[in-house]
Amino acid sequence: MPDDLATTVLERCDALAAFSEEDGRLTRRFATDALRMAGDAVEGWMREAGMTTRRDAIGNVIGRMEGGDGGTLLMGSHLDTVRDAGRYDGPLGVLIAIACAERLRGTLPYALEIYGFADEEGVRYGTAYLGSSVVAGRFDPALLQRRDADGIAIAEAIGVEAAALAAAARAPADLRGYVEVHIEQGPLLEQEDVPVGIVDAIAGQTRAAVTFTGAAGHAGTVPMDLRHDALTAAAEWILAVEARARAKEGLVATVGEARVEPGAGNVIPGRVRLSLDVRHADDAAREHAVERLRGRADDVASSRDLALEWDVLQETPAVQCAPPLRDALAAAVRDGGHRVVHLTSGAGHDAAIMASLTPAAMLFVRCAGGISHHPSESVDHADVAAAIAVVMRFLEAHRG
Ligand code: GLV
Ligand code: MN
Ligand code: MN
Repeated sequence: MPDDLATTVLERCDALAAFSEEDGRLTRRFATDALRMAGDAVEGWMREAGMTTRRDAIGNVIGRMEGGDGGTLLMGSHLDTVRDAGRYDGPLGVLIAIACAERLRGTLPYALEIYGFADEEGVRYGTAYLGSSVVAGRFDPALLQRRDADGIAIAEAIGVEAAALAAAARAPADLRGYVEVHIEQGPLLEQEDVPVGIVDAIAGQTRAAVTFTGAAGHAGTVPMDLRHDALTAAAEWILAVEARARAKEGLVATVGEARVEPGAGNVIPGRVRLSLDVRHADDAAREHAVERLRGRADDVASSRDLALEWDVLQETPAVQCAPPLRDALAAAVRDGGHRVVHLTSGAGHDAAIMASLTPAAMLFVRCAGGISHHPSESVDHADVAAAIAVVMRFLEAHRG
């Protein structure tokens, strides 16, 4: 039976991959038509499964399966993607939850609600978790004025006001917890030769926008010693970012975006806007690294007579998964005849935000070569079937 469900889940992952902003590759950012269409498809599958559906003010898709009067268990993951994404990061967890709900229809002593979050990746606005932060009541209304690269503010993109977002927050009182299934996005489960793993903790992350401003000028006439080239400053700093992360066990730091202005081959770069993403399982280690990187950026800017702007977009602390839910998931893994492997997630997940609302836990599914945030992301049918069987056992046993 989990075999048939795995086939359905994988077919639906393929179907969702067709909803993209770009021809020939999967890019589905927050509050785009592609995301709305993917959400429509997910709502359709939720209704087929016997759920009632709705959208909340930020654009999360929500399906509810009624059960006994023992409160509500939340499940889900995100439907947005990075640029040129794989098809499993996010949707796999939503679709496995729907498949399990459909199969267990009406038999659970509690209600099940499944969220397809509208933004976890943060690609459009540089700040992750817009979807789950609304549900957890942690959305900062100041973000409504944040603009994307085309100058469109979040308020305009979603067409709602702060009050509507505040009203979409869930009250924790009747919640039994939040459980998220997600591809591992790393190589550990493959190395351990197991289909699924239990997440103990999710690493914290800082995201910042870092801008070096110098002076644009003519590439042919301004002598080298009179230049204030923003791109050479950025390059010097990016190498320092890499060196710092390499020097500290467990630290990862990435500059993944660079916008060079004015952006012509014969013009000295006058301004460079960079993204910075820093992560560590230990919050103090991450915070210390960010402080040092900022100091280094100041040094680079002043030694080249440039201006520096440093705008922290997001700081999410590391989160421990809730022991009772985590142990119940581990029992369901063991009962399926699998060795229980525990891991820490370096990737961010909606569970990190949901954990501030209700106890949260995660099940990882092995992915080929640990590859993710890349179109060649892939999962095995048998591993998806194993994950479905684990989730069904967990849901059936979760009565206490
Ligand atoms: C999301 O995938 C993240 O970890 O950035
Ligand atoms: Mn994800
Ligand atoms: Mn991702």
